[in-house]
Amino acid sequence: MFTLPLRDNAELRPLETWHAEEFAAHLDRAREHIRPWVGPAFVTGDVAGARDTLVRYGERRAADGGRLYGLWLDGTLVGGVMFVAFDAASGGCELGCWLEPAGEGHGLVTEACARLLDWAFGERGLHRAEWHCRADNARSSAVAERLGMTLEGTRREAWPYGGARHDKQLWGLLAHEWQARRA
Ligand SMILES: CC(C)(COP(=O)(O)OP(=O)(O)OC[C@H]1O[C@@H](n2cnc3c(N)ncnc32)[C@H](O)[C@@H]1OP(=O)(O)O)[C@@H](O)C(=O)NCCC(=O)NCCS
Repeated sequence: MFTLPLRDNAELRPLETWHAEEFAAHLDRAREHIRPWVGPAFVTGDVAGARDTLVRYGERRAADGGRLYGLWLDGTLVGGVMFVAFDAASGGCELGCWLEPAGEGHGLVTEACARLLDWAFGERGLHRAEWHCRADNARSSAVAERLGMTLEGTRREAWPYGGARHDKQLWGLLAHEWQARRA
């Protein structure tokens, strides 16, 4: 119903419970690509699992918490961005993202995250945004860097995956830093 055009063939829209089948089909295309890099609860295996994720985010949105947005490229859901966490009281949020292979390399996530940051800092008055990723996730770190975030630290062996423990990076961006970039 509500669509934010990012460019001619790309759109950002709320990703809601009624998208469960479309989201599950997208996850079938994305699953192996994203599995090492995102939280395990997000990588569901069927429509019921996909619906659970959408319901969970719907509940968070109703509480003015996390929010989920899909990215459509040429009419196909290819990924999305989210507020993993959003806390107006403390002025902080955490952004996240994912794409199926066909969505990579178009600048979609950086552009969509910029819209989320405009809203979080500009309209909601938040003070700080975070980005968490595996330290060896070069494409994810590159998004944080393109958004002007600062690498604030590395939590050693904080990300268990595949029987090993990986380092986790914490990137941060402050409201005045974002406003200066946008000016
Ligand atoms: C992390 C992830 C979302 C990054 O995707 P991405 O496509 O590299 O990031 P963006 O959407 O910002 O696009 C940037 C790329 O598009 C290119 N691009 C093309 N047109 C562009 C445009 N108009 N504007 C900006 N960039 C453009 C850029 O050059 C860049 O490609 P490059 O790195 O090969 O030079 C993706 O790799 C992914 O989903 N990985 C698996 C899941 C994951 O890691 N999620 C994050 C968990 S923390």
